[in-house]
Amino acid sequence: MKYGLAVRGFLLFLMVNTVQSIGGNWGTQATHPLHPTIVVKLLKDNGIQKVKLFDAEATVLNALSGSGIEVMVGIPNDMLSTLANSVEAAERWVERNVSAHVSSNSVDIRYVAVGNEPFLSTYNGTFEAMTLPALQNIQAALIKAGLGNRVKVTVPLNADVYQSSTEQPSTGDFRANIHDLMVQIVSFLSLNGAPFTVNIYPFISLYKDPNFPVDYAFFDGYSSPIVDNGRTYTNVFDANYDTLVWALQKNGFGNMTIIVGEIGWPTDGDRNANIGYAQKFNQGFMSHMNGGTPMRPGPIDAYLFSLIDEDAKSIQPGNFERHWGIFNYDGTPKYNLSVGGSNSRSLVPASNVHYLPKRWCVLSPSANLDDPQVAPSVSYACDRADCTSLGYGTSCGNLDARGNISYAFNSYYQINNQLESACRFPNLSVITTTDPSVGTCRFNIMIQTAGNQRNDGFLLEPIRVQILGFLSALLLLLYWS
Ligand SMILES: *[C@@H]1O[C@H](CO)[C@@H](O)[C@H](O)[C@H]1NC(C)=O
Ligand SMILES: *[C@@H]1O[C@H](CO)[C@@H](O)[C@H](O)[C@H]1NC(C)=O
Ligand SMILES: *[C@@H]1O[C@H](CO)[C@@H](O)[C@H](O)[C@H]1NC(C)=O
Ligand SMILES: *[C@@H]1O[C@H](CO)[C@@H](O)[C@H](O)[C@H]1NC(C)=O
Ligand SMILES: *[C@@H]1O[C@H](CO)[C@@H](O)[C@H](O)[C@H]1NC(C)=O
Ligand SMILES: *[C@@H]1O[C@H](CO)[C@@H](O)[C@H](O)[C@H]1NC(C)=O
Repeated sequence: MKYGLAVRGFLLFLMVNTVQSIGGNWGTQATHPLHPTIVVKLLKDNGIQKVKLFDAEATVLNALSGSGIEVMVGIPNDMLSTLANSVEAAERWVERNVSAHVSSNSVDIRYVAVGNEPFLSTYNGTFEAMTLPALQNIQAALIKAGLGNRVKVTVPLNADVYQSSTEQPSTGDFRANIHDLMVQIVSFLSLNGAPFTVNIYPFISLYKDPNFPVDYAFFDGYSSPIVDNGRTYTNVFDANYDTLVWALQKNGFGNMTIIVGEIGWPTDGDRNANIGYAQKFNQGFMSHMNGGTPMRPGPIDAYLFSLIDEDAKSIQPGNFERHWGIFNYDGTPKYNLSVGGSNSRSLVPASNVHYLPKRWCVLSPSANLDDPQVAPSVSYACDRADCTSLGYGTSCGNLDARGNISYAFNSYYQINNQLESACRFPNLSVITTTDPSVGTCRFNIMIQTAGNQRNDGFLLEPIRVQILGFLSALLLLLYWS
């Protein structure tokens, strides 16, 4: 009896560790991205066996070569129009960005993500007419390249493509203004044995609605569960996922494969974005994904959003947008999480990361807070660097006025590779070797970019950055003269 349980436990362990490992989203919108080979090692060290990309950058795909990691390559929305209008462009895209890597480089490409959330309401329909034709052209190009069985197309969509009229998932259907288009896309995917990819964000529910019940965003139970046709929902992820299942079923695609393209929680930039919540959500999801939802019991195929923070992302969605990583900008883990095949509770940090010297740019102790240059200097720095960790409820939300100014100066200085001229805010700034970090508020030191390592494709990078830094310093001087 006991033995039987042990064997079952072992089988479950095998399932969990082979079938069920979580993937990761690897975005590169950072001022100082980690070198792709460092990221690939980070993935392997942490047992992350699949990645989703937003692009098809050659340096990233080359680094993935021979890694055994499964890859979803992406096509950015701004390329959809070209690919929709030209079969040849789609064929060239597949040849260059899929075939070349699959054959010569042995990159294990499994999916092509055509567009990224192209039907987001905020795009006002810009990509509506071109997404399906682009999908069709890429699919045809994959077949022509002999990759039709090996590489599947999909369109990562935001969960706003479906809705429910009540909180019950069974009232779900596709958004009325794109209903017919969605049915066409789903039929096309289904015909080609391709999956439906959806991004689900309980954090955004909480961010947008201050009355949203916090417990319902997580996986630890909720005191007022939603009951729907005898099924009980204690977390919004399940309810949201099953709303999609119902929408698909209602339109004749009850068996459609679903991939969760993005799931995660940010750690900074909002009062609900912190390490405690992020760990609770992501670890909760990791345990939950094996069981599935009331409508679809069984393992869920999902990609965490995201692997590493990206300090150059647009903050139009909110200040939290640069803080979704389970790793900081430098590949250090933000919190303990057990992912992938590893049984360890803690994440393995990136190796071979080199930092700039231990120097920070801060507000000079002798500077006067009433100096009229303070406000323009801070806004100059924040516009060009990253001040998203300042503000109510954030990691640096408790700084005093002087701390705030120092934070802005330092961010600008580090993003400009500690260029001396990037710490010349008139009569205000000074370079220090004493770490100004306090409590949860980290004054970062920038990492050396790949340009500081010789013999690779990034050799030109630091020169460009330095010229940019020089130009902005020049502008800064002009600004104040
Ligand atoms: C391959 O993908 C890259 C990155 O998105 C893009 O810049 C390039 O134009 C693509 N190549 C072709 C031939 O379409
Ligand atoms: C969508 O429309 C709104 C309101 O008309 C406008 O402010 C916004 O810039 C538009 N967005 C895009 C991406 O076109
Ligand atoms: C859906 O899948 C189940 C289980 O694989 C199968 O029994 C059923 O016939 C399928 N339904 C459709 C509509 O394909
Ligand atoms: C992970 O947990 C260990 C043991 O509890 C602790 O020492 C370590 O600081 C934690 N790591 C992070 C990144 O929180
Ligand atoms: C620090 O900066 C943040 C964000 O700009 C602001 O909300 C806060 O009021 C500032 N705090 C002080 C003490 O100036
Ligand atoms: C810096 O301070 C000095 C002396 O207090 C003053 O003469 C000068 O105008 C200041 N420079 C700027 C750019 O504010």
